[in-house]
Amino acid sequence: MKKTAVVILAAGKGQRMRSQLPKVLHQLNGRPMLGYVAAAAEAAGVSQTLVVVGHGCEQVEAAFPQFNFALQQPQLGTGHALQCAMPQVAADCENVLVVCGDTPLLTAETLSALMHSFEQTGSTATVLSARVPNPYGYGRIVRNLNGEVRAIVEERDASEEEKRICEINTGAYCFEAASLREALQQLTTDNAQGEYYLTDVIGILAALGKTVTSYLCADAAETAGVNDRVQLANAAAELRRRKNRALMLSGVTIIDPDDTYIEDTVTVGQDTIIEPQTYLRGNTVIGANCHIGPFAEIENSSLADGCRAQRCLIIESEAAENCNIGPFAYLRPGTRLARKVKAGHFVEIKKSEVGEGSKVPHLSYIGDTTIGRDVNIGCGTITCNYDGKKKHRTVIADRAFIGSNTNLVAPVSVGEGALVAAGSTITEDVPDGALGVARGRQRNVLGYVARKAEEAAKKAAENAENKVENKQE
Ligand code: UD1
Ligand code: CA
Repeated sequence: MKKTAVVILAAGKGQRMRSQLPKVLHQLNGRPMLGYVAAAAEAAGVSQTLVVVGHGCEQVEAAFPQFNFALQQPQLGTGHALQCAMPQVAADCENVLVVCGDTPLLTAETLSALMHSFEQTGSTATVLSARVPNPYGYGRIVRNLNGEVRAIVEERDASEEEKRICEINTGAYCFEAASLREALQQLTTDNAQGEYYLTDVIGILAALGKTVTSYLCADAAETAGVNDRVQLANAAAELRRRKNRALMLSGVTIIDPDDTYIEDTVTVGQDTIIEPQTYLRGNTVIGANCHIGPFAEIENSSLADGCRAQRCLIIESEAAENCNIGPFAYLRPGTRLARKVKAGHFVEIKKSEVGEGSKVPHLSYIGDTTIGRDVNIGCGTITCNYDGKKKHRTVIADRAFIGSNTNLVAPVSVGEGALVAAGSTITEDVPDGALGVARGRQRNVLGYVARKAEEAAKKAAENAENKVENKQE
């Protein structure tokens, strides 16, 4: 195949999005819109990726430093966008694939089929078309009596008869670079929107007697453009379905794919089961044989094989094999759990390492802490890591046992195999093997309850007597 450059049109304001953010940077299932289009074109086998930017160009360029950019300022239409890009198309690219930055559902297979059809038919231009039940808003493919493509007419320029055409322009095309350059010079703004329409290139080339063809996209849903936030949500839902489907086909069980939200960037291992209301985001990596959810939200984190995570929020954290997280656990950035760690219910851990086999089963806050192996943290234990100005570290060595409802006032350490008595407020280091007790000693006042009751009864009787005397007076 001849060398092909892809030009992605992404300079428009995206007025109908009603947003400060450039349209192509809006996220769909974890990636910006432009990322999907570019990935599809690259997978279809192009040798140069050139993005036309204008509105919000600094933001778009910063988000995709790997691409070449052409600046279109001001934005005078899709034809003008391509005029701005052509000088930057590499000299050895004989073909140009054009796609809109706002059609994120187009697949690599479809673009590759378009490129093949273009070459096989020896065309000067091939437009990717689709048949849709409601063509409103799209350019229509106009053919002559022999069925040859003659022009594309935009909605606002179409006659009543043309508006009834249900074959639409998807906004993706293949062109012979040299002919495209010539045709672009002939564009005018003589249309309802006063813009340079790229679609007019098709009519110009057809009138010149060049071979202009169309390639019909088998799945019209792929060609949907995103112009407003309703379409954004619809396209995102489709991308989510695709991701879930790919995972299921690779051996992941998803109990209810319609209620499971796995971003495009996430990987999940074989035989993992994902329950409903699970959100896996960013660069999250889930191992094999895990059981995730229901109600799990995991962001930029990794869980190794065999982990269980239910009803939890995990952010920028790592768990090694066979950890048990939740229900109602909150792992904040910088949490690292070694193998077989339990972070149980109503447990919050932040910026801490927990050693192999250690347990933080209930109602704890662990922050800025290093916990060794086989440590048991009693229910309700908290690390007091913040003195109002600075954060301090707590160190708990291997096999230590922290009694329930302990406060560990950092900086502080508990030695290897040491014991901390329940209810202690530990402010000084506990040496290896020692028992640390830091609480008021218990005192039992014998007979207290009965004595109090007697006193109360006596008082009540006196009051009653006083009332009687007062009445007699
Ligand atoms: C365009 C096509 C229409 C097609 C539809 C498919 C034209 C004139 N019309 O219409 O036939 O059915 O796409 O979705 O081409 N852009 C620029 N610079 C500009 C204007 C637009 O880069 O000056 C970019 C936009 O950022 C967008 C793409 O081109 O990514 C399409 O522009 P848009 O305004 O959405 O065109 P449509 O009206 O959808
Ligand atoms: Ca559009």
